[in-house]
Amino acid sequence: MSAQLKEIPGIRQMFVTDLDEIIVIEQEVFLFPWTRGNFGDSMSSGYHCYVLEFAGHIFGYGVMTIGSGEAHVLTLSVAAGSQREGWGEKLLQHFICLAKAHHARSLFLEVRKSNLGAAGLYERIGFRKIATRTGYYPAMGGREDAIVMELTL
Ligand SMILES: CC(C)(COP(=O)(O)OP(=O)(O)OC[C@H]1O[C@@H](n2cnc3c(N)ncnc32)[C@H](O)[C@@H]1OP(=O)(O)O)[C@@H](O)C(=O)NCCC(=O)NCCS
Repeated sequence: MSAQLKEIPGIRQMFVTDLDEIIVIEQEVFLFPWTRGNFGDSMSSGYHCYVLEFAGHIFGYGVMTIGSGEAHVLTLSVAAGSQREGWGEKLLQHFICLAKAHHARSLFLEVRKSNLGAAGLYERIGFRKIATRTGYYPAMGGREDAIVMELTL
């Protein structure tokens, strides 16, 4: 019977044992990826670290901090082969619920100025652009601006 049950993709907390798979995706989707240490530090610091999992494999993940009434999404990724299927939005909605449950009043994130796809998703969810951080990100041959976005919760 259980062998016939369909596995349903789900969101769960990130563990250190997920890092091998996470690093592969991270290096696939970002030109300037986070390191294993960045993810390890996020977990040991008590940040809210979650993964998307299907059939025992990770296909997305995100990290958020919450404090002083503010939440910040530090990173959000969906593996290249699973993008534009609604999973990025689902993970973001999970973070929005979590931030509300912790009484955060705003959720912030930064996005590269050139990352129009991600910014479009955030705007659709209700984020608005509130500031630009000049030269915030490393880029090929220089630096790139970050657009700071806020969702009022
Ligand atoms: C940004 C990201 C997390 C979104 O997750 P996703 O699962 O692909 O997004 P969803 O399926 O939930 O939403 C798709 C919507 O987002 C926008 N979008 C996402 N990626 C896009 C792209 N490459 N080009 C254009 N629009 C894009 C569109 O509005 C799209 O809607 P549509 O498919 O109906 O046109 C994912 O694409 C990703 O990991 N990208 C690489 C890493 C990255 O840029 N992370 C964000 C850093 S701030």
